Amino acid sequence: MRIVDIIEKKRDGGELTTEEIRFFVEGYTNGSIPDYQASSLLMAIYFKDMNDRERADLTMAMVESGDQIDLSKIEGIKVDKHSTGGVGDTTTLVLGPLVAAVGVPVAKMSGRGLGHTGGTIDKLEAIEGFHVELTTEQFIEQVNDIKLAVIGQTGNLTPADKKLYALRDVTATVSSIPLIASSIMSKKIAAGADAIVLDVKTGEGAFMKTVEDAKNLAHAMVQIGNNVGRNTMAIISDMSQPLGFAIGNALEVKEAIDTLRGEGPEDLTELCLTLGSQMVVLGGHAKTIEEAREQLLEVIKNGSALEIFKQFIEGQGGNPAVVDDTSLLPQAQYTFEVPAKEDGFVSFIEADEVGTAAMLLGAGRATKESTIDLAVGLMLRKKVGDKVTKGESLVTIYANQEDVSSVIDKIYSHIKIANEAPQAPKLIEAIITE
Ligand code: URA
Ligand code: CA
Repeated sequence: MRIVDIIEKKRDGGELTTEEIRFFVEGYTNGSIPDYQASSLLMAIYFKDMNDRERADLTMAMVESGDQIDLSKIEGIKVDKHSTGGVGDTTTLVLGPLVAAVGVPVAKMSGRGLGHTGGTIDKLEAIEGFHVELTTEQFIEQVNDIKLAVIGQTGNLTPADKKLYALRDVTATVSSIPLIASSIMSKKIAAGADAIVLDVKTGEGAFMKTVEDAKNLAHAMVQIGNNVGRNTMAIISDMSQPLGFAIGNALEVKEAIDTLRGEGPEDLTELCLTLGSQMVVLGGHAKTIEEAREQLLEVIKNGSALEIFKQFIEGQGGNPAVVDDTSLLPQAQYTFEVPAKEDGFVSFIEADEVGTAAMLLGAGRATKESTIDLAVGLMLRKKVGDKVTKGESLVTIYANQEDVSSVIDKIYSHIKIANEAPQAPKLIEAIITE
């Protein structure tokens, strides 16, 4: 087999065989296929696309390029959730305990934040003592015990994807549906998921700016999942404004605790109930979405979701007392209000820019090497559609620095006030099951 023939075939719109796709992925991972030929094939895929079978084959070839986490010693169907990345997205912290309380095992591998989006591990580390370095045995034991554990990235998972993603980044081939879908799905499958729930974000703060693109990506991923034997569902959710009120690590932990108590922001709560219901159905603990939702509401009401969160914190070395006393979380030294300059209605809160404002305070990383400040961040006091009067606070800044003028400037440039009430963005744009 020669890679040049495979490139030519795809260039002319042909369908690649399973063997050809394997040959490419293996050859690129082990270095026998050089960057220039891989880039050429990626560009051909970008223009000529791949059919469902090719996409499934590409995904599995990337899964098989490295280690796979074996979760077979965990009882039950392991359902993983993936979000395509948002600002102030605290869902994993809420969903884990929530669905675990219903009996769905959550064995989650999470990452750290980069740029304007946060990471679950950073948020959890805002809890004193909490650590994600568990051995595989400890990880599995904790999931069997309390149904929930979170670890950091371990093992050599999907090396093909790492290498290809880096190459795509510099060859203008990132925004290709078959390439994105196989990249995301390969990582979930290698991490041991039996079933997958996807939260595809759309809007200003998201990777997919339009609902149309988000739907196409969601369909592609659901197809791949179902074609490779992993039950998969997706929702399309709004990321034109940040989710909930809190943006910043300790602030989001507090927001997650509030939500598990049934006192969280409306949008975050609704998103968690929607995604959670799908996880419960895929996990085999309910027949219908409605039945699953009832179960989730019940574990919020009777306190068992919050109880699991405590056990989870304790199991991973953290101080569970934070759940009842959130003043034990890291606290910022200073707070500043950002008052509205006029009367009206909030018409726009640009999620990615507000995320960047939080990053400037130290809540996020500008580069992989940056250190972050777990205490700092932003609390939105208004969301899109809310009425506001001049002088009322739009945002509270939590900072460990006295000069926050650049952050305030950024907030003013990216939160818009209009005379008329705007149409509030729809939180859940679509639910995709096939
Ligand atoms: N996220 C991924 O993991 N892969 C892509 O290709 C794009 C976004
Ligand atoms: Ca939030």
